[in-house]
Amino acid sequence: MTPLPESLSRSWQMAALSRDVGRKPLARTVADTPLVLFRGADGAIAALIDRCPHRNYPLSEGKLVGGAIQCPYHGWRFAPDGACVEVPGCALSESEGARLAAAPVEVRELNGAVLIRLSPGGPDLPDLGPWGAEDHDHFWWSQGVWGGRALDALENVLDPFHTNFIHDGIIRRSSRRMPVRLSVRAGTDWIESIIEQPQPDLGWMSRLLEPPRDRSITRLHAPTLVQARWEGPRGLTLCVTVFFTPVTPTSLMPFACFTTPKGRGPGWLKERAIRLFLDPVVRQDREALARQLDNIERFGAPRFLQGPGDLLGARVAQLYQGQSLEPAEEGPFDHQL
Ligand code: FES
Ligand SMILES: [Fe+2]
Repeated sequence: MTPLPESLSRSWQMAALSRDVGRKPLARTVADTPLVLFRGADGAIAALIDRCPHRNYPLSEGKLVGGAIQCPYHGWRFAPDGACVEVPGCALSESEGARLAAAPVEVRELNGAVLIRLSPGGPDLPDLGPWGAEDHDHFWWSQGVWGGRALDALENVLDPFHTNFIHDGIIRRSSRRMPVRLSVRAGTDWIESIIEQPQPDLGWMSRLLEPPRDRSITRLHAPTLVQARWEGPRGLTLCVTVFFTPVTPTSLMPFACFTTPKGRGPGWLKERAIRLFLDPVVRQDREALARQLDNIERFGAPRFLQGPGDLLGARVAQLYQGQSLEPAEEGPFDHQL
């Protein structure tokens, strides 16, 4: 399978939910790189490469002692910045501690997300609008590691035409379509599709939950961050920010934050209503990605055609691979969804 692109190491990738990182080491793999996450004595999150520099034992199998992670093999301890602070049975100078350090990884905590960057110096996170804003309700969803290629998951979420089939009856319907106007806009490091339609989708989820809709916009921020917004006559109704974290070339860990403007019912009720439909929709996409990967592996490599509804075409893959796009505005085009 094609290795993961270099662009992933230079970008911020979500490694965990804040609430999952505590005083017990947490093992995570991001872009084929095993990491260990933990909170130091001051509560700040630390991320280290999950390999003890001494004899390469996994640090994630150790425990926290005095705010430093202790390797189970010989008991060396490493501070949140990676410095070795103890070699049991031996005296240790500060310079020796620096020489024997574990490798730290850049990490930050934001709006309930733990983000890491494997190689420093890449672009910062883009402006993500209402994500984390105090005048909105938010809840996180995650479901562990999925089989599938991160690129195919990005294509899935950006592609409206699968919703009539894979999510037939829940989101849209295969037997009853509605006229829509599709447009595409691109900047150098993002691309978005805009769907204008006269009413919410014809599946049960929209018909039961959604206020009037004018349009939905789904934007990919290179390389793997997607934000979808639904808007009605009174503005934003729902925003979903999804971090598609590649784990290996054939697996990924998606994390999604659901954001709604405060006011329309209590946050917990909106969360419960959304989760009711989210589970089956997510199961359908997860199953589709796994089946797609099985078949790609059966044939040895992907070979994709772009059809008339694939308006983003190869540009999703280009952003994923770290290439810049020509800014563009295309459409609107008339289609049936
Ligand atoms: S391998 Fe970790 S302390 Fe020796
Ligand atoms: Fe889907």
